[in-house]
Amino acid sequence: MNALIFNCSPVRTGATAAMVQIIAEQLSARYETVTACIDDYSFRFCKGCRSCHKTGVCALPPDGAARIMAAFEAADIIVLAAPSYWADVPGQFKAFIDRCTPWSNTHEPHAALSGGKKGYAAVLRTGPGMQECERLTATVAHFLGHLEIPCCGSLCLTGVESRADIPANMQKILDFCDTI
Ligand SMILES: Cc1cc2nc3c(=O)[nH]c(=O)nc-3n(C[C@H](O)[C@H](O)[C@H](O)COP(=O)(O)O)c2cc1C
Repeated sequence: MNALIFNCSPVRTGATAAMVQIIAEQLSARYETVTACIDDYSFRFCKGCRSCHKTGVCALPPDGAARIMAAFEAADIIVLAAPSYWADVPGQFKAFIDRCTPWSNTHEPHAALSGGKKGYAAVLRTGPGMQECERLTATVAHFLGHLEIPCCGSLCLTGVESRADIPANMQKILDFCDTI
């Protein structure tokens, strides 16, 4: 079984990256595990042309969005890890979600990933409240749902300003990994 731990923060070495590294180390004992960062890819914004609603194919030339979807296709387990930026997922990740409209089950025909995948959300923020984290996990679950990937669990960390705050959350991260 293959696991993809995807850092949806544009910061390759930040707090989310540190969490991703721990999750990957834990899962690598049980799964073929790879990590990637959204900043490894460049892709255009969705233009909202809706031609994919009729064709199931994006009208834009193939770019990094298609390469991320290829990484999703190769994975049985997909962990989407995201920090809160302005109380939701970072704009780069939202831009990628928009580009996944050809794969959305809200229209026919649509592109489709192979079945049987499991998704997870791992989110963090600086502020103390869980409600904002739940908004991020809802964004992730909504996205996965339209790809027909069940969101099977989530991790929410608060009080995380930088990667220096990750070790204090180690037990929560390990407990989350045990559920995957
Ligand atoms: C542009 C930006 C917006 C942010 N907005 C929020 C916010 O609304 N709520 C919050 O709790 N933290 C917010 N943060 C703090 C980040 O969630 C926090 O620093 C996180 O650890 C950053 O993870 P990263 O280093 O992987 O990007 C924001 C940080 C940035 C850079």
